Parts: sequence; structure tokens; C-alpha cells
Amino acid sequence: MIKAKLLKDAEERIKDLNKLQKEGLICLDGQFFPSVHYPPINMYPPIDEKTLFKGYANPSGNLFDIYVHIPFCMKYCVFCHYPVKIGAPDEEKDHYLNMLEKEMDIYMNRLGLKTIKPRSILIGGGTPTYLIPARLEKFLRSFSSRVDLNSCTQFSYDVDPLTLLGKEGGERLKILKSFGVDRLTIGIQSLDDEILKKMNRPHTVKEAIEAIDITKKMGFKVNIEFIYGYPGQTIEAWIETVEKAVSLGADEIQLYRLKIIPYGDHMGSILKKSVKERKEYFGLKRAIMMKEIAILLLSQNGYNENLRRVFSKTQDDFSHYANNQCCNLFDEIGFGLTAFSSLRDRFGLNTQYFDKYYYLINQGKLPVDRGLVRNRDAQLRWALILPLKNREVNKKYYQRITGVSLDTIFRKKIEKLKEFNLLYENDKMLGLTPLGILFADEICHQFHHPDYMPFARTAYAQGKLNPYDDFQP
Ligand SMILES: C[S@@+](CC[C@H](N)C(=O)[O-])C[C@H]1O[C@@H](n2cnc3c(N)ncnc32)[C@H](O)[C@@H]1O
Ligand code: SF4
Repeated sequence: MIKAKLLKDAEERIKDLNKLQKEGLICLDGQFFPSVHYPPINMYPPIDEKTLFKGYANPSGNLFDIYVHIPFCMKYCVFCHYPVKIGAPDEEKDHYLNMLEKEMDIYMNRLGLKTIKPRSILIGGGTPTYLIPARLEKFLRSFSSRVDLNSCTQFSYDVDPLTLLGKEGGERLKILKSFGVDRLTIGIQSLDDEILKKMNRPHTVKEAIEAIDITKKMGFKVNIEFIYGYPGQTIEAWIETVEKAVSLGADEIQLYRLKIIPYGDHMGSILKKSVKERKEYFGLKRAIMMKEIAILLLSQNGYNENLRRVFSKTQDDFSHYANNQCCNLFDEIGFGLTAFSSLRDRFGLNTQYFDKYYYLINQGKLPVDRGLVRNRDAQLRWALILPLKNREVNKKYYQRITGVSLDTIFRKKIEKLKEFNLLYENDKMLGLTPLGILFADEICHQFHHPDYMPFARTAYAQGKLNPYDDFQP
């Protein structure tokens, strides 16, 4: 597409931005807080294991999605808000992996299971491939002995490009393949070496492209991740990045808007930097413009947003783990530091502190320290917010999960959002319009209880869409 036309089309599509901000949909200073869980992950009170599991029954067929967190990395990226250890000695990695095994055993015991039957698996981090090949193999052997892969539709691994290169990289990829890993998410972040340097990423653009080529050749499904809205990244450079990303032939392209405010409870250096170097951090309009430009360019090249933020050419290429948890609302278990479990009407969050993680496991306890058994109000919101953000809400399914018809609740909110062309609704579905997709997170905040709102009431204009108004279901 000719650049001038692309920019004109994108401008036209985002022209309601100011109006929506004046109506209170978007925070006045343009800050952004992604809607990932409900309640948000940093708002859970302390909980003990007994309270968390009281009255919980395993899902039918004992099927769960599984997440495993491995919190080690080579370098600390400037934008990262995850508690990870950099340059941990081998003994510490071994110790962590031993504790992870123990945690799995304690969990299985609690659920009365001899093995876990995953619907899907995601191993993330940190950089879960930042282990020497022998240690990676040892971990996968121990993990695999505890899971029965017969019902597993996807085994996905988050990787850093550098860990896939050279002799060791080749060995790692062979090991992953031999244990049934079939999808890799590669953190590329940018296709501009200057920006990668600013981010303190350990790899170059050339290395990232090499990693994509190798993984494609080995037959993995490949998802490549990028951040937009990074300081120094111009709209022109972003257009080039998206065009280049398309040419790399990945199955999925995943785009994250830069999170400056930490989503969890660990704060990366980006927040401090954004205060110090205010001018470099551009605002809301450019970020939304970048998202719209990406949507237009990707759709022209056959990539559609099949799961929020994830663009793929076919409907089947996306994270099954995310889809099962966020669209189907299936039960999911997380192992490892900061991992969470989402179990029907409850949510448990593992500690973010290594010492506490080790201590609790050594006591024979699960390392969970925060969480909630959702009450009716929270359950009604959760079952709406997650599918709305990630795809659309199926009304029949909503009623099955909550026992309540969506035609009878949140009506004032839904009608207002429809009036502003942010939601569509028919007999079967409720979903985001093309305009709504640009503000998916803010629209989800509309359905939060005031106790769980990401920003104070005064952070929004007092217009028709101030999220604090009409909050009752
Ligand atoms: C769970 S993170 C970790 C992935 C992996 N460690 C890596 O960096 O390649 C998954 C993705 O979230 C995105 N991400 C992490 N921090 C972010 C931030 N502050 N703002 C926007 N996206 C972020 C990055 O694209 C990253 O690849
Ligand atoms: S962004 Fe990824 S690679 Fe970078 S420090 Fe965080 S977890 Fe590690």
C-alpha cells in the first residue's frame, strides 16, 4: 500500500480517539493498562492453599492447560517487568528445576492425579531455553514423566533468538522436537538494531532472522513477537518493521503495545526512564496509530487478528493455551515462580520471591500466596471480560458458565458502548467493532468493579463513558 494512503486510512480509522477520551473511555494522560485477568493480577489479596482449593472439583476428564515458568535470562531488557535472574549460576538453575518438579508433585497430589492430562502446554519465562542443552533435556524428561500428552493439542515454548543459534542452539531445537514441542514463540521485539540496543536485547536483527529461518526449516509453528510504541521508534520505521515481519513468513505475528506501568508487581526500569526522558515517550495517538497501521498492513498480507494481538493467516494458528484460558475459560495450572492457576471460579498466584518459593515447597506446600475465590459479581465480570478482550462473547456459553443471561445484565454499559460504535451485539454474540478493537483494554475496564479499576475516577474525563459510572451488573 502506498505510504500516504496507508497513513490517511489509519488517521481516518482513529479519528474518534479524542472524542472517546473526552467521554472518559481512555485515561486522560493516555496511560495504558492491559486487560489480561479479572481482577487484575496485581490486585489479589493474600490467600492460603486451603482456602484456594476449598470446594474445588477437577474439570471433567481431568483436563487442564499447563504453564511452566522458568525465570532465567541472559540480560535484563529495559522494558521487562518480570522478576527474572540474570546470569544465575548452574547450581541455582538446577535447584530451581528440582523445586519445580517437587511443586508439580505437590500439586498433583492435591488434585488426586498421578499424571496431568494437558489440553495444551506453554513453557515460558524468562527465557526457558536459556539452559544448557543437557539441563533442558533433563527438565523436559522430568516434566514429560508427569504429563500424558495424548489430549494435548499444542506444546509451545517461549524462546530467545540467540539460544537457538550455533551448535548449542541446534541441539536445543532437536531436544524440543524430540519431546513433542511443536510451536515456538520467538521474542524478536524490533527489526531495528538501534532499538534492540536501546532495549538491551541480547540479539541483533540478523540473529533474530536466522533463528526464525532455522525454526521454520525444522517444522515448528513459529510465532514472532514485537513491541510497538517504543521510544525512538518512528511511524515510518514501524511500517518498515511490519512489512519486513510479513516477509519473514512466520505463522503468527504478535504485537504488544509498550507497557510502561508494570502489569504485575515487579517494576522494570522503563517506568523511571519514561519519567526522566518524557519527550522520547510518545503518547496515545501514535501508539493507536501504530496498531491501526499494523492491522491494515497485516490484513492486506493475509494476516488477521484471530486472537487479540495475534495475527495469523489461518484460524488455527494461535496459542491454544491463551485461547483455552481466555476464550473458553478452561481450567489452567501454572507451575513456577509468579505462575498463576485459573481454576473455574478462582485464581491463585505463586509468589514472586525465590526464597519464599523454595521455602514453601520444602514445607510440602504449594508456593501460592495470593488469590481469590470469585464471588458472583466478580464471576459475572470475569466471564465477560476475558472472551470480550480476546475474541467475542458467546451468549449461550456465558449463560452456561454464570447461570445468567447476558441480555439481562450490564445493559446500560453495553448500550452506551454500542452507541459509540465500540461493541456489536446480536442474538448469539457480543463483540468489539473494528473501532472497539483499538481500545479493547479500555472497553474491558468498563466492566470492572470500582474496587478493581486500574486508574482512579479522576484519571478519566467525566463524560458518558467514565468507567466508574453504571458499574453495577
Ligand atoms: C512473557 S514475555 C517474555 C518473553 C521472552 N522472555 C522474550 O523477551 O523474548 C512475552 C512478550 O511480552 C512482550 N513484553 C514484555 N514486556 C513488555 C512491555 N513492557 N511492554 C510490551 N510488551 C512487553 C514481549 O514482546 C515479550 O516477547
Ligand atoms: S523481556 Fe524476556 S528476555 Fe528480556 S529480561 Fe524479560 S523475560 Fe528476560
